[in-house]
Amino acid sequence: MSTNNSASLYGGATHRRVSIHDLRDAKARGEKWAMLTSYEQMTASIFDEAGIPVLLVGDSAGNNFLGAENTIPVTVDELIPLTRAVVRGSKRAMVIADLPFGSYESSADLALATSTRFFKEAGAMGVKLEGAHISTIEKLTASGIPVMGHLGLTPQSLHQLGGYKVQGRTDGDAILESALAIEKAGAFALVLELVPAELAKKITAALSIPVIGIGAGIDCDAQVLVWTDLMGITAIPPRLAKAYRNLRAEMMAAATEFAADVRGGVFPGPENTFN
Ligand code: KIV
Repeated sequence: MSTNNSASLYGGATHRRVSIHDLRDAKARGEKWAMLTSYEQMTASIFDEAGIPVLLVGDSAGNNFLGAENTIPVTVDELIPLTRAVVRGSKRAMVIADLPFGSYESSADLALATSTRFFKEAGAMGVKLEGAHISTIEKLTASGIPVMGHLGLTPQSLHQLGGYKVQGRTDGDAILESALAIEKAGAFALVLELVPAELAKKITAALSIPVIGIGAGIDCDAQVLVWTDLMGITAIPPRLAKAYRNLRAEMMAAATEFAADVRGGVFPGPENTFN
C-alpha cells in the first residue's frame, strides 16, 4: 500500500524528511536510490541539497574521520556528536546512525538503550546494526525505532571473518535465510556488503524491503558508498568503490598553492585586507 503521494524519491516532497514509507514505496515502483555516509554538517548539507534521500553516519567514521585503523574502536560517545551534526546539516534526508561495536550485541535492552541515546541526543531517525540479531530488531521496531540490517561482510566482525573478504560464496543460503529473518523481524532496509552479485540479486528479489548494496552488484534496490571513496579523498580506495572526483588531488593542490602564496607574500591580497 502506498503512503506517499510524491512520484519519486528524487524531486519528491522537500518540505519534510524522507521516511521508511517513501523507501518502501520506491522499492514497489522499482525506483533505485543512493545512500552516502556523512560524518559532519558540511557534507550533510551538500548531499542533502543533491537530493540523496538517506545519509548514514557510519562507524566507517572510524577509519575515514577519526583516524582509527578500522571501525572497531568507534564509540557511541564519538558517533553521537557526528550524528547530531549530520541531522543539523540536513533538511530532507533520513539520517541513520550506525550502532558501534559493543553497543548492542549482548542484549536487546542494551541495543534499545543505545538507540534511544542516538534518537534523544542526536535526532537520529533510524539505526543500523550488523548481523542477524533478530530479537533485538523486533524489540527496536516495536519500540518505534526503524532498523536497517547489515549482512555479508560485516566489518565489526573483521577478525572473526579473517579480513575484508567476499562473503556468501559457499554459504549464500544462510545469508538469504538471515535476510528473510531480518525482514520478518521488522527491519525497514538491509545493507548487503561484499557478496556475489547473483546472491544479492536473489536476496533483493526475495525481500520486500529495500536492499542497499555495497560491493553487491547492480541489482540491489539502492547503493551506498563511503563519501570519501566517492570523492576520491581516500588514499587507497577499496575495489568496491568508484571515485567520481579526485578531491584528494584538488585539496592537495589548494593547500600547496595557499602555502606558496603565504611564503611568497601574495596572500592576503588587497581584497582580503581591511583598512
Ligand atoms: O559504516 C559504514 O559506512 C557502513 C556502510 C559501508 C554501509 O556500514
